[in-house]
Amino acid sequence: MAEEKKWVRLVTAKTPTNIAVIKYWGKRDEALILAINDSISVTLDPNHLCTTTTVAVSPAFQQDRMWLNGKEISLAGDRYQNCLREIRKRACDVEEEDKGIKIAKKDWESLHVHIASYNNFPTAAGLASSAAGLACLAKLMNVKEDQGQLSAIARQGSGSACRSLYGGFVKWIMGNSEDGSDSLAVQVTDEKHWDDLVILIAVVSSRQKETSSTSGMRESVETSLLLKHRAQEIVPKRIIQMEEAIKTKDFPAFARLACADSNQFHAVCLDTTPPIFYMNDTSHRIISIVEKWNLAEGTPQVAYTFDAGPNAVLIARDRKAASLLLQRMLFYFPPGAGADLNSYVLGDESILQDAGIKEMKDVESLPYPPELKDTNSIQKYAGDVSYFICTRPGQGPVVLSDESQALLNPNTGLPK
Ligand code: DP6
Repeated sequence: MAEEKKWVRLVTAKTPTNIAVIKYWGKRDEALILAINDSISVTLDPNHLCTTTTVAVSPAFQQDRMWLNGKEISLAGDRYQNCLREIRKRACDVEEEDKGIKIAKKDWESLHVHIASYNNFPTAAGLASSAAGLACLAKLMNVKEDQGQLSAIARQGSGSACRSLYGGFVKWIMGNSEDGSDSLAVQVTDEKHWDDLVILIAVVSSRQKETSSTSGMRESVETSLLLKHRAQEIVPKRIIQMEEAIKTKDFPAFARLACADSNQFHAVCLDTTPPIFYMNDTSHRIISIVEKWNLAEGTPQVAYTFDAGPNAVLIARDRKAASLLLQRMLFYFPPGAGADLNSYVLGDESILQDAGIKEMKDVESLPYPPELKDTNSIQKYAGDVSYFICTRPGQGPVVLSDESQALLNPNTGLPK
C-alpha cells in the first residue's frame, strides 16, 4: 500500500493570453460569469507572452494546492472551487502502466491536485491567463470534452480567459441559457489566417491602483445607461462587422471597429457612477499619435485597444507599419534615464532591426514623424512607458511533453 502511494502524475502546458478587440464588459450572472454581450479577441503568441502551468495528482497529496509565480496562493475562492468541481466531474479513467498509475473515474473525487503557474512576462502587463490551469487539468484527468466545452469551464474562472483556449481570433458567445451551457468560446479564424499583423504592447508606467475588472463592470452594469445601449444595440452589429473584417482581412474596417470599441468601453467607464478612469495621459497621447498618423496616411496603419488599465495594445497592419510605429513610439517615449534598449523592447526583438535601431544613439537621432506639422512645440515623454513587448497572433494551449519543463518535482509534486 505504501508503495502504491508513491506515484505522481504530471502534465505541463503553455497557455496564451488574449486581448479583446470587441470588449466584454458586464455580466448578467455574477456566479456563472455570463456576459451581457458577445466579445472577440486575438490570442497573443505564447512564444512571447504565456503562462506555463504544471498540474500534478498523487494519492500522497493531502489537499488541493496552488503556487503562482513561485508563491503559494489560496484556492478557497468560489471561482477556483467552481472550476475544480466542474473539471473533476468530467474526469475519466487514466492508466500509465510504466509508472504503475491507475486512476478510475470515481477516484478523482478523493484525489487532490497541485497546480503551479508561472507567467513569462511581468504581471504589470496586466494580461494574466486563468485558462492555463484548466487546459492542463483537462489533460491530466483525461477529460474528453472539446475546447468549446472546456472554455465554458474556464469562463467560470474569469470571463475573458475562456477566449484563451483557441489560437487566432476567438469569439466568446454570450449564450442565452440560464445555466451558462451555451456561453462558450469558438474560433473565428486560426493564427495563420492573418499572419501579417504585428502587435506592439506599450506597458505604461502608472502608480495608480486600478479598479478590478470584476468590480468595475459590476458598477457599470448597475449605473451606466450607455452600457445598456452598447450591449443591446451597438455590440451585436459590431460583432458581425468585426467577424467579416477578420475573415476578409479588411484592415481599415478592423482598425475602425477595434478603436471605436475600445473608446466606447472607456466611455462606459466614464459613464459609470462613480466614474472609472483606466487610461491615463500617456494612454491618451498614444491614441493621438496613432490617430494623427492614420489620418496622414489616408488609411489606418495601426489599431489601438486598451483594457482595464493604461497599457496600449497596438495592432499594426504589417511588419513595415510595425517598424514605423516602433520608430514613432521610441521617438515620443524614449527609455528613461539608465534604461537600456534590450530591456525596453521585449518579445520579438527583431522589430528593432527592422526599424533600423541598434543602439541608444539611434533612438536619439530618430527623425520627426512627417505627419507632425509644428516641430517647435514637440514634447517627448522619456520614462512614461516602462517597456514595449512586440508579438503577433498566436496559437492556443500546447501540452509540453518535455518533463524537464515541469514546474513541479516529478517525485514530490512540490515546486522545483
Ligand atoms: C476589459 O475577464 O478580467 O479585459 O470575468 O470578472 O474575471 P471577470 O473579468 P475579466 O474582464 C476583462 C475585461 C476586459 C475586456 C475583455 O477582455 O473582453
